[in-house]
Amino acid sequence: MTAKLIKGTEIREEILQEIENEVKKIKEEHGTVPGLVTILVGENPASISYVTLKIKTADRLGFKEVQDNQPDSITTEDLLTLIDKYNKNDSINGILVQLPLPKQVDEKKVLNAIDPDKDVDGFHPVNVGRLMIGGSEVKFPPCTPAGIQEMIVRAGVETSGAEVVVVGRSNIVGKPIANMMLQKGPGANSTVTVVHTRTKDMADHCKRADILIVAAGVPGLVKPEWIKPGACVIDVGVNRVGEKISEKTGKKIAILKGDVDFDEAKEIAGWITPVPGGVGPMTITMLMKNTLKSFKSSLGIA
Ligand code: GUN
Repeated sequence: MTAKLIKGTEIREEILQEIENEVKKIKEEHGTVPGLVTILVGENPASISYVTLKIKTADRLGFKEVQDNQPDSITTEDLLTLIDKYNKNDSINGILVQLPLPKQVDEKKVLNAIDPDKDVDGFHPVNVGRLMIGGSEVKFPPCTPAGIQEMIVRAGVETSGAEVVVVGRSNIVGKPIANMMLQKGPGANSTVTVVHTRTKDMADHCKRADILIVAAGVPGLVKPEWIKPGACVIDVGVNRVGEKISEKTGKKIAILKGDVDFDEAKEIAGWITPVPGGVGPMTITMLMKNTLKSFKSSLGIA
């Protein structure tokens, strides 16, 4: 193995410790803690497991955590009423509506109803606009891209002037991370290319990348020969390719594979993120960071 592993699990611990210390200090000085509400609609197993992890993490950090579970049959209007209630609640600094929502719900309407100053997911068009402008305008960077940038910076990878190639153009990862890496400022200043399903020669672009960020959702899409020797490879893909019995718990668990062929890529890259244990753990961590930021801003100390 030549590549250095960028472990999300380790970086997560560093950041969570920083947040925990800050929450303790603010609680002593101001007698109050960040408030986060998680709205979970229905019983999608993946959503339940994500929300459970978000709640556990918020609890560990000493946040006030409100769990609001709603039936699968909920209407758009009822969800809008619920969001309005939390928008008006001063003890709530972050509102998270777990996606996907059931078919009958107008997801766009729901996300757009969240107060942009409590939109810790960073999905509201106002926050997407703030991200595009960059600099001090940015309020809540979306969590997965923010986690990716944090990993690159903490690994000590030079981003200024670097050729960054992003594979995938989703609203949640590809588009925002491309935008973040091209901004002026630390951890950015890169020259960015975005490739996608209609790109003529994806391999050619990838081969130029000093930093290759892959968020396509296609297991093993990026071949080892597409990787420039010494490049930093960030694999955002979390693809369920089968099931196995956990040695630890004896329960059935998913076999996860990234968008990059890890075993071969690690012999070529300079840095690489594993799957699982790479980008995954960073998303919830950055959600907590955004909630803390919202809380501090509500106290006028941000
Ligand atoms: N569903 C899958 N990922 C996410 C996320 O980052 N935020 C929300 N709200 N829902 C999701």
